[in-house]
Amino acid sequence: MSIDIFSQQPITAEQLQEAMSHALQQIDRNLEQLGDQFLGLSSENLIYPAIDNISWATGFWTGMIWLAYEVTGHDKYREAAERHVISFKDRLDREVDIDHHDLGFLYTLSCVSAYKLTGSGLARETALRAADHLLGRFKEKGAFIQAWGEVNNGQESRLIIDSLMNVPLLFWASETTGRPQYEQAAYEHVRTLTKHIFRPDGSTYHTYYFDAESGRPIKGVTHQGHSDSSCWARGQAWGIAGLPLSYRYTKDPALIDAYKNTLQYYLARLPGDYVNYWDLVFTQGDEPRDSSAAAIAVCGMLEMNKWVEQEDELKRLNTQAAQCILQSLMTSYTTKGFPHSNGLLLHAVYAKPQKVGVDECNIWGDYFYMEALVRLMKDWELYW
Ligand code: GLY
Repeated sequence: MSIDIFSQQPITAEQLQEAMSHALQQIDRNLEQLGDQFLGLSSENLIYPAIDNISWATGFWTGMIWLAYEVTGHDKYREAAERHVISFKDRLDREVDIDHHDLGFLYTLSCVSAYKLTGSGLARETALRAADHLLGRFKEKGAFIQAWGEVNNGQESRLIIDSLMNVPLLFWASETTGRPQYEQAAYEHVRTLTKHIFRPDGSTYHTYYFDAESGRPIKGVTHQGHSDSSCWARGQAWGIAGLPLSYRYTKDPALIDAYKNTLQYYLARLPGDYVNYWDLVFTQGDEPRDSSAAAIAVCGMLEMNKWVEQEDELKRLNTQAAQCILQSLMTSYTTKGFPHSNGLLLHAVYAKPQKVGVDECNIWGDYFYMEALVRLMKDWELYW
């Protein structure tokens, strides 16, 4: 590791409270302006546009509202998020932008959360319908869940590392119904993914192609990273956050080994203020950071700590690294000094090669920043 990760003072309860107050202020302001619309994927000049319930990322806004409800107990948040559940049901009914693997992001944070917090039958049923749809993307040849495009389109025969955050919807579906098929597909997918997408040095490919006819693995290719051989920071962060979630359901020790390698590589590539560049090929200079990846990684470290023995060195590493990164985000990466912004976390990147949302707020960065705060503020029953 190139930086001293063990030198920080722990984040105090007052600091967490202050950061959460800012998050709640932004949520209140957005709720007032949006009605039942959603925040867009990334900001422009630090201002999110309002969008309808389309895109892979609308669930993050709903997830933030559920977190606000948990932290405050205020009915206005529950009522707003419950209206979102109806919107997510409607989206499935009308099949609006649902042919991709991100049903996990969408329906875990909107509907599994609603079911866990309120016992809503509608939310449970809607999340299960989304899980069925996601299950339909499982390819027997190759044993993986196809990320994008039509499942019969051979050109689209690939998985992506982000999917580690989508399989919890399937694991949860088996847990809540007792039906094993969701978990079986999820676990097979995770095994295929860990075999091919993690490189021996602990870095990751963003996506991996398989021959559509035979299922034979072909090659790793990036989509949002710097190059096929570099390591897209958010992909690495999805790995750090996703592996503990699959471990939680499977208890497969191989996932802890994969996590350790992935974490070590990530930490060794952090610059002095602990907030990664958008691709881990960069460790210094003027390239943009991706604060969203940092927030995602923090949540993964805090989750993994639930599954590591007290005396394990990994526990100390997770705790210290999570504190250092989150403290840096809280101190230097929020919109507190930017009153025109309706976002939370500055300096995130959506897709640098595509020139979309570069050095802006993005909605998953805001969500995971808030999830990280909640994880430190209370004993959080996660939605995943
Ligand atoms: N899951 C898409 C992204 O991280 O940009």
